[in-house]
Amino acid sequence: MDPVRIDVKTASRHYTVLIADGLASRLGAQLDALEVPGARFVVSSPLVWRLHGTRIARGLRGVEPILVPDGERFKQLATVSKVYDALVRANAERQSTIVPIGGGVITDMAGFAAATYLRGVAVVHVPTTLLAQVDAAIGGKVGVNHPLGKNLIGAFHQPHAVLVDPTVLATLPRREFRAGLYEVVKYGMTSSPSLFDRVATRRDDIFAREPAVLSAVITESCRIKASVVTADERETGLRRILNFGHTAGHALEAVTKYRRYRHGEAVAYGMTVAAELAFLRGVLAASDRKALGDLLTSLGPLPPVGDLSAREVIDAMARDKKVVAGRLHFVLPTAIGATTIVNDVTRKEIAAALKRVGLKA
Ligand SMILES: NC(=O)c1ccc[n+]([C@@H]2O[C@H](COP(=O)([O-])OP(=O)(O)OC[C@H]3O[C@@H](n4cnc5c(N)ncnc54)[C@H](O)[C@@H]3O)[C@@H](O)[C@H]2O)c1
Ligand SMILES: [Zn+2]
Repeated sequence: MDPVRIDVKTASRHYTVLIADGLASRLGAQLDALEVPGARFVVSSPLVWRLHGTRIARGLRGVEPILVPDGERFKQLATVSKVYDALVRANAERQSTIVPIGGGVITDMAGFAAATYLRGVAVVHVPTTLLAQVDAAIGGKVGVNHPLGKNLIGAFHQPHAVLVDPTVLATLPRREFRAGLYEVVKYGMTSSPSLFDRVATRRDDIFAREPAVLSAVITESCRIKASVVTADERETGLRRILNFGHTAGHALEAVTKYRRYRHGEAVAYGMTVAAELAFLRGVLAASDRKALGDLLTSLGPLPPVGDLSAREVIDAMARDKKVVAGRLHFVLPTAIGATTIVNDVTRKEIAAALKRVGLKA
């Protein structure tokens, strides 16, 4: 079957997201067809390579991968340095293509290496988590964490292509899969009632990774991300709607030192907080707030929030890099598939919303 093709058109580059079952087994042919520059350097993690490397390497005709550790705590400059070391040792030239194969941590780190090695070489992402397929690999944001904050060091570096193979998700643990699914719910909530409904009605098929249903969900999510990035590459306007759930979500991740929640889980809470804020302001109907809550609950358990204090979470929000001129921006839902951005939310309102979500004062 021909891959689904989704175009991303930014000022810095036009490229295509290709989605097809089995694509990861045919990377060599895909890269040939894309006519990407010169020598290819695969960057992956030991776990991903153990699970999928044999099949991928066959299609790439015996490439030697650069393997670096992936979990959030390895998303730092020291790990990127290992990628530079391998590239230098292999005499990688300006005319090279880096092929990150992994979750969002690998695509962000190897993408950053690509943005900076020799002032920038080509990158073709092969995302292997649901989160990376529908979000991290598209849009050109790359970077690493600083000990004092997440994603503080980075660049915009659009890929030459994004190759999405939904079948690689067969090995993804359920919790990681669910974490990605919360970002899909985010797209539904900000931009697509039909996607929202599809997650609700086809939940079991999605978790079973039924190919047609899974592909449809990934495709619709990628279309939304691609169209938002096309409209606003640098996040000065429309792209900010994709921060729905992330203001409180990032704060929850920060106060728990990035250990308690998967990113998507924190975003699930963050979306609930935003929905409570919107409801308290009278811009979101009780029925829509309930629909979001019910959908999130139906997807499975979330780590607890009850021991966290609203005060420390609000303080963490105020330190977030998305604070503009001292004002917190909140993306508030106004219906399933519609949002508004506000910057006049008071501490008192946020405290009330956090309390309703289960935090202590
Ligand atoms: N650049 C962006 O626009 C953007 C957007 C969203 C998130 N992100 C970043 O993405 C990161 C999170 O990404 P993630 O959730 O993919 O985490 P991750 O990359 O840490 O992957 C999660 C775990 O899944 C494993 N894994 C990957 N593919 C697998 C597979 N097919 N089967 C089994 N296991 C597999 C990994 O080894 C890892 O242990 C965060 O650092 C976040 O900041 C970036
Ligand atoms: Zn996110």
